[in-house]
Parts: sequence; C-alpha cells; structure tokens
Amino acid sequence: MSASLKTYQSLSQKLNFKDTLPHTKDWSAAADFLELITDHCLTTRPRTILECSSGLSTLILARCCQINQYGNVLSLENGADYAASTKKNIHLYGLDTHATVIDAPLHKIQANGNSYQWYKIDKSSIPEIDLLIIDGPNGYIQKNSRYPALPVLHSLFAEHCTVFLDDAAREDEQEIIRQWRQQYQPAEYKYIETERGCAIFKFSS
Ligand SMILES: C[S@@+](CC[C@H](N)C(=O)[O-])C[C@H]1O[C@@H](n2cnc3c(N)ncnc32)[C@H](O)[C@@H]1O
Repeated sequence: MSASLKTYQSLSQKLNFKDTLPHTKDWSAAADFLELITDHCLTTRPRTILECSSGLSTLILARCCQINQYGNVLSLENGADYAASTKKNIHLYGLDTHATVIDAPLHKIQANGNSYQWYKIDKSSIPEIDLLIIDGPNGYIQKNSRYPALPVLHSLFAEHCTVFLDDAAREDEQEIIRQWRQQYQPAEYKYIETERGCAIFKFSS
C-alpha cells in the first residue's frame, strides 16, 4: 500500500469515518495536506471555514466541525457535477449541518490589474472567515489561477484568519505566494514540504 493511501486510511480512522473516504488519485487534495488542515481545525476550532473547491476536503473539514461541535464549512465549487457529487457525499456521511456547497461558476474578474476566471460569489452572504482553504480553481485554467483568492476574500477575514494553499510547490503558486506576502503582509508565513507543497499564512488585524 502506498504511503499516501496509508495516510488517507489513518485520517479516516482518526476522524472515525464509518465508510471508506471517497478520494480520487489526481483530484482529491493529497492526504498529507488533509492531515495538516485536520490538525489545524481540531486544534483551533474555527467558526467559519471557506474552501475554494469542494470534494474530499469538504467532508474532512465538516467532520472536524462535527467533532468540535462547532463551526461550518462553506465550499465554493465551479463544476456543477462536482458540486452535486460533494452535496450527495455530505448527506451520505451525515454532515449536512456542518457543510454547504455553494454553486459558484467561474466568471471574469479583475485583480491587481489582471483578468482572471474566478468563483462568482455574493460576498455579503459570507460570514467572517476564520480559516480559508485554497485548492481551486484548477491550475490549467489560467496563469496564477488561485491568485484572486486574497484580493477577493481578504476583506472578509476575521481578526485572526489562517490560510492554507495546496499545490504550493508549483511555479504558479510560488509566484502567488510571493505576491500575497508582498501585498497582504501576513503576520506569519510557513511552507511545509508535503507531497504537493503547502503554504500557511496567518493574518491578524
Ligand atoms: C483539486 S480539485 C478539488 C479537490 C478538493 N479540494 C478535494 O480535496 O477533493 C479542484 C477542482 O477540480 C475539479 N474536479 C474534481 N474532480 C475532478 C475530476 N475527476 N476531473 C476533472 N475535474 C475535477 C472540481 O471542480 C474541483 O473543484
């Protein structure tokens, strides 16, 4: 069994899931990234978690909130089929009270003078964000695909907000990290050498 499969399994046991977790090799967040966000969530007990891209990560975060008996996950998903599949799984795993998938098709936005395709959201419907998990939109859509997350969402951050960026080892994400650190000046920044790279930012206002 691969190290990654073992980590998915141990995560499933740690969170006491009754059924096997529905992960897909190329599309689910890597197991070691999920382990990091699980530990963060169980330790810091965030109230509002906003997630860019739904899937296995939504189930994991919702289960953490269920264990914490506190908090909710709002998950932005641009793919209607993936949104439907995550909603179905949330229900199957008994997590309806802790997770909501928001259908958010990509649309054109401007950020720092450039055009991007990013999730169409109604910002007024999103509460203050304590934890932001970024694993979408997909990298192949455009250059620096995940850059708009901070320009769009920074004004919604709670007094203390932690941001996890997956796939941080990629060239685009390295550029995004450089720009965010310069433009938003996080109170703390850490890079963790996970399978695909994980960047963690802590913001305080
Ligand atoms: C990296 S995946 C999201 C993974 C999610 N955070 C998780 O842990 O499962 C990013 C996006 O890819 C899309 N996606 C998911 N599964 C896919 C598949 N099998 N083929 C193509 N796109 C997929 C969805 O729109 C999803 O939001």
